[in-house]
Amino acid sequence: MKPNLKLAVQCKGRLSEASLALLRDCGIVFSRSNGKLKVDCDNFPLQLLFLRDDDIPAMVAAGVADLGIVGRNLLAESRAPVHMVRDLGFARCRLCLAVEKTQPWQGIGDLQGKWIATSHPVILRDFLKRHGVRARIRRIAGSVEIAPAMGFADAVCDLVSSGSTLLSNGMREVETVFASSAQLVANLKLASDQSVLLERLLLRIRAVLRSRTHKYILLNAPETSLASICRLLPGMKSPTVSRLNEPGWVSVQSVVNEEAFWEVVDRLHELGAEGILVLGLEKMVF
Ligand code: PRP
Ligand code: ZN
Repeated sequence: MKPNLKLAVQCKGRLSEASLALLRDCGIVFSRSNGKLKVDCDNFPLQLLFLRDDDIPAMVAAGVADLGIVGRNLLAESRAPVHMVRDLGFARCRLCLAVEKTQPWQGIGDLQGKWIATSHPVILRDFLKRHGVRARIRRIAGSVEIAPAMGFADAVCDLVSSGSTLLSNGMREVETVFASSAQLVANLKLASDQSVLLERLLLRIRAVLRSRTHKYILLNAPETSLASICRLLPGMKSPTVSRLNEPGWVSVQSVVNEEAFWEVVDRLHELGAEGILVLGLEKMVF
C-alpha cells in the first residue's frame, strides 16, 4: 500500500516494543526485517521510520516524519514545535534528581552551587529556576548515573523507570523533576488527506487503549437489585439485561474500568450478584 503518512518510532529502547505492539494491536501489519529503518505497512498507508528517540521531536517538527511516538521528556527537552495528539499511557518513567546513597539530603537547597550531570539540561534548568536553586549543569549524553562516582558531578538528573540503574550504581532518588510517558505527536502542517488518515489511526488507537483499561463483565442478579447494578455498571451506553429462566433473576452484561474493578465486585456481591464472569477485551470502539 502506497504510504501517505510517515510515523517515526524509536529504533530500540524503552518505547520501541510497546510502540510496535500498539500498531499491531491496531491491526496494522508490517514486517521489520533485520535492520531495515524504513518499512511500509502492508494494509495501511503508513510508513514507519525507525529513529533514535532523541531525534524524533525535531524530525516531526521539520516534517521529515508526519507523526512520531516519543517520550514526553524528549518533547519538553527539545521544545520542538509539534502537535501533541494523544498520551499513549505506556513507557511511564520520571526524570529524577538522585544523589549517592551515602550523601545526606535535606532538600533541593542542598544543590546550591553544586554540579549536576544530566542528559536533560533544558528541563533541569527550568526546574532549578522555579525552585530558586543556582546549580551548575554538566551535560552528558548517556550513562549519567556514573557521573558522581567519576567525580564529574555531585548529583544527577536522569530518567528512572524501575529504579534498578540507580540502585546498581549506589544512588538514590531524592526529587521528581518531570513525569513522562509515550506521546503521539504530529507535524503542525499535515495535509488534509493526512489528517483524515491520522483520524482513522486515532480511532483504532483509542479503541485499543480503552480495551487495555476495561473488562467485560457478566453476572446473574436478583431483579430487585437491577436498578442499583445498572447505576454501578453504566457500560458504554447502558448494560444489556436479559431474563434468566429462574423467575425473579436477570443476567447483566457490561464493561467496567479496571481501576474500579474490585470495588465494583464488592458492591455487586453486596447486591446479591452471583456467577460473576470477567473477560478481557480486545477492542472498544465508540
Ligand atoms: C534511561 C536512564 C537510565 C535507565 C533507567 O536510559 O538513562 O539509564 O533508563 O531505567 P531503570 O530505572 O529502569 O533502570 P534509556 O533506557 O532511556 O536510554 P537512553 O537514554 O540511551 O535513550
Ligand atoms: Zn534515547
